[in-house]
Amino acid sequence: MKRLLITIDGPAGAGKTTVSRELADRLNYKYIDTGALYRVVAFEARAAGVSKDDDTGLENLCSALNLNFVKDERGLRLLSNNSDITDQIRAPEISMMASAVSARPVVRKYLLDLQRNMGREKGVVFEGRDMGTVVFPDADKKFYLDASQKVRAIRRYRELESKTSQTLEEVEREIRLRDENDGKREVAPMKPADDALIVDSTDLSINDVVEMMLAYILK
Ligand code: DC
Repeated sequence: MKRLLITIDGPAGAGKTTVSRELADRLNYKYIDTGALYRVVAFEARAAGVSKDDDTGLENLCSALNLNFVKDERGLRLLSNNSDITDQIRAPEISMMASAVSARPVVRKYLLDLQRNMGREKGVVFEGRDMGTVVFPDADKKFYLDASQKVRAIRRYRELESKTSQTLEEVEREIRLRDENDGKREVAPMKPADDALIVDSTDLSINDVVEMMLAYILK
């Protein structure tokens, strides 16, 4: 079968990462988590003391980024300037900062080119917020994965439980704020592409979602 470019957009906690990984595995495709790119910018901005609305600072920081993906026994690792920041970029303060810097056009413009370059080769699943709308409007198959805010908060809380001391209420608040930021920004707001299949995973298992997507892809 022809190798495709598949996009999966949607809000935090909808299950995009697990589903995209599984789908990529089953199809023997590559998987790219574009949220990690915004997280790196947020992480490096914090480390350098660049504020979330300092466009010149963010632009300089973006053009100096040196990112590499390497595989080891733990899976795919993300190196920024040769230091492994895979785990650090998952911290809650980085999630909020990533959401803030992702609203800045300078950051989006820089990452747009990077993502399109990564999509030159087909046989890939891209996960993000604007994959099907802005980055790859001509993608072969597009999905928008959603779930109720409550269920998304519970999922994210369980995922973070061993790593942070955040309460469920705090996780819920963070998800609500990020939904607002990501959905209401002027540039590339999070929304389903007109031609995306919308999947509500509130009452579905990961396997149900993956099977549904595979059926749609192979149709
Ligand atoms: O998917 P994630 O939670 O790792 O993404 C972190 C933030 O990055 C998210 O709140 C918004 C931003 N983001 C974006 O604006 N566009 C993307 N394609 C991916 C992520």
